[in-house]
Amino acid sequence: MSELNDIQSVLTENRIFDPPAGFQEKLGGAWVESMEAYRDLHAKSIADPAGFWESVASNLQWFKPWDTVLEWNLPDARWFIGGTINACYNCVDRHVEDGHGDEVAIVWEGEPMDNDDPDIRHLTYSDIQDKVSRCANALKSLGVGKGDVVTIYMGMVPELSIACLACARIGAPHSVIFGGFSSQAIVDRVEDADSRVVITCDGAWRRGSVVPLKANVDAAAAKTKCIEKTIVFKRCDNEIAWDDARDHWWHDLMEEADAECPCEHMDSEDMLFLLYTSGSTGKPKGIMHSTGGYMVYTMLTSRFTFNLRPDDGQVFWCTADVGWITGHSYIIYGIMANRVPTLMYEGAPNHPEPDRFWSIVDRHKVTQFYTAPTAIRAFMKWGDEHPAKHDLSSLAVLGTVGEPINPEAWMWYHRVIGQERCPIVDTWWQTETGAIMMTPLPAATPTVPGSCTLPFFGIDAIVCDEQGNEKPPNTGGLLSIRQPWPAMLRGVHGDRQRFIDTYFSTVDGMYFAGDSARRDERGYFWIMGRVDDVINVSGHRLGTMEVESALVSHDAVVEAAVVGMPHEIKGTGIAAFVTLGGGVEACDELKASLREHVAGEIGAIAKPDMIRFTDALPKTRSGKIMRRLLRDVASGKESTGDMTTIEDFTVLAKLRDDED
Ligand code: PRX
Repeated sequence: MSELNDIQSVLTENRIFDPPAGFQEKLGGAWVESMEAYRDLHAKSIADPAGFWESVASNLQWFKPWDTVLEWNLPDARWFIGGTINACYNCVDRHVEDGHGDEVAIVWEGEPMDNDDPDIRHLTYSDIQDKVSRCANALKSLGVGKGDVVTIYMGMVPELSIACLACARIGAPHSVIFGGFSSQAIVDRVEDADSRVVITCDGAWRRGSVVPLKANVDAAAAKTKCIEKTIVFKRCDNEIAWDDARDHWWHDLMEEADAECPCEHMDSEDMLFLLYTSGSTGKPKGIMHSTGGYMVYTMLTSRFTFNLRPDDGQVFWCTADVGWITGHSYIIYGIMANRVPTLMYEGAPNHPEPDRFWSIVDRHKVTQFYTAPTAIRAFMKWGDEHPAKHDLSSLAVLGTVGEPINPEAWMWYHRVIGQERCPIVDTWWQTETGAIMMTPLPAATPTVPGSCTLPFFGIDAIVCDEQGNEKPPNTGGLLSIRQPWPAMLRGVHGDRQRFIDTYFSTVDGMYFAGDSARRDERGYFWIMGRVDDVINVSGHRLGTMEVESALVSHDAVVEAAVVGMPHEIKGTGIAAFVTLGGGVEACDELKASLREHVAGEIGAIAKPDMIRFTDALPKTRSGKIMRRLLRDVASGKESTGDMTTIEDFTVLAKLRDDED
C-alpha cells in the first residue's frame, strides 16, 4: 500500500449544484426531499440497522417472514434469517397479481437500424411471466434443480433477463458471463461453478457485426467436460455448428414447455447468483449474492437513487450489459422490483451513427438514464451536434457508475445531456457490494463534479488507515465499510480464504473495498482509485495479473508486467512491458499477435493499448516488479519515489528511451 503515501488531494472543485428546482413535479414527487430528511434517516439507519431494514423489507412480498433481521459474525452477515422469498416473484408475478399484468416491464431495441421500422419489443409483466415460466420448465426438463448453477452467455436481448429470472424462479443460481469474454473465460467460469447447462445465442449484434457466441461456447465445450447441455436463442440467424446430443433451440424448448411453473420458496440466504469479477491475484473469483438481502437493498437503492415511481410514466435506461453487476441490479432486479419499465438496448452507442443513444432516449421518452464515464467521454469527443438532433426533455435524472468521472465529463453531461435541469447521481459501488453504496439523492443532495457525495442509508463508510483510524479531511486513505449491509457479498465461490484475505484482512474489523478515497470538509467522498492490482478499463474491471498470465502463455513471451496508464476515453488503458525469449524478434507483427492472444485468452477488453518490449523489468532486490516505476514510465511521468532498491537502474532508463 505504499502508493497511499503518494495520494494527495489534487482536485479542488468548488462548483456545487443544488438539486434543480422543478424536479419534484417532473417526477411526481421525491422519495427523499431534502438534506435534512437524508441526514435524519441516515442517522437512524446507522443507529438501528435492523429496525431500518425490517421496515424496508416489508415492501417486498415474502412467503414467510423472517425471525431475525441480522446476524453479524465478521465476515459473515445473514439477513432476514428464517424468511423465504423469491426474486422472480417480486419482479414479475407480484405485479401481475396486483393487476399490472398488461403494463410494460421491458422495452427493448435491437441494434440493426431501419428508421422506418426500428426493431422494438415491448414485453408486459404477463408476457414475461409466461416466458419465464416456460424457460424455468425447460431448464427443469434438462435436469436443472434448486442449487444448480446455470451459465448464461448471451447478447443483450430480453431473453437474457428472462433466463436470469427463470433461474431465480426455480432457485438455480445464475452465472452470467459478459458476451465480450472469450471461450477460455467460459471454461474457467463453468469449471469453477461446476455448471452443466449454458444458455447462449447463435450470435449477438455489435456495431453491425455478429459476435459468434455459440461458436465460443462450442470452443469452450471442446476444452471442458463440464458443459453437458446448451440452450440456444436464435437472434442473428448466423450459421452455427450443432451437436444434437448437447444443443437445444430455445424456441423449441419454450414451445414444448408448460406455461405454469411455481416460484420456489427460497431461504433468504440462498444464493441468487454468482458473478465473476477480477481481483489482484489469480483467476476471476465468483462473487456470491444472496436472495433476500440482495433484493431488499437493490430495490431500495433503485427507488431512492433514481426516484423511481411506478405510476408516473417513467422509463429507466441503464446502458450497462447484464454481464456486469450494474446490469444485474439496475436492468433486472432493482428496477423490475419497483415496477418501472426497464429499457434494454442491444448494441453499440455509435451504431449506425454517434447519436444512437439520444435517438433512443427521444423515441422511448427515457426519464432516468444511467451510464459510465467512459461513454460520456466518448460522446463528448463525438460532438454536441449528436445529442442536439434529439429531444432530450424527458430526462429527469442522470446517473454514472464504474469509474471516477472527471469534472469536465461531469460538466458536459450536466450541460449537454441534462440541459442543466437534471441532477447527476455519481454512484460508487462494486460487484461485491451488490448495489449502490454512495450516491447523491436527486432531490436532496447538492452535487459536486467528481464526488460520489455521501453514503446510502445503512452504509457506514469511512476513510481510514490499516488499523481502522479515520483519516482527517482531505487525506487519502482506505475506503472501508464498518457495518454489514443487506446486499453485501456472502463469499467467494469455493474459496473461503480468498474471501477473508481480500475483504476482511486489510483493515481491522471492516470490509475493505480495494479503493482509496478522501473526504472533503463537507464530508463528501472522493474516490481516488484502486490500491490493489486491479485496473478499471472503460469501467470494466481487470486484474493486471490476469493480463500478465495471458501474455506469458504466448510462446514468445518470457515475462510480462502490466500496469494502468491514463487514457483519454477509457479512463485507464493497459500498458504491458514484455520480455521475449531468446531469438524472438521484437516487431510490430508480434505486438499485434500478442494483442490478439490476450483477446483470445480473456476478451477484447483486455487487449493492451501499449506494448513495450524490454530486455528486463525493473525489480527490487527481492525480485518484485516495481510497478510504480512502470506506471510512471507508461504515463510519461518522471519517477520521484525512492529508487535505491532498483536492481538495475539502466533498465528504467532504457524503458524511457524506448519509444512505442
Ligand atoms: O474502483 C471502483 C470503481 O469500480 C470498482 C468496482 O468495479 P466493479 O466491481 O466492476 O463494479 C462496477 C460497477 C458497480 C470500484 O472498486 N468505481 C465504481 N463506481 C465508481 C468507481 N470509482 C469512482 N466512482 C464511481 N462512481
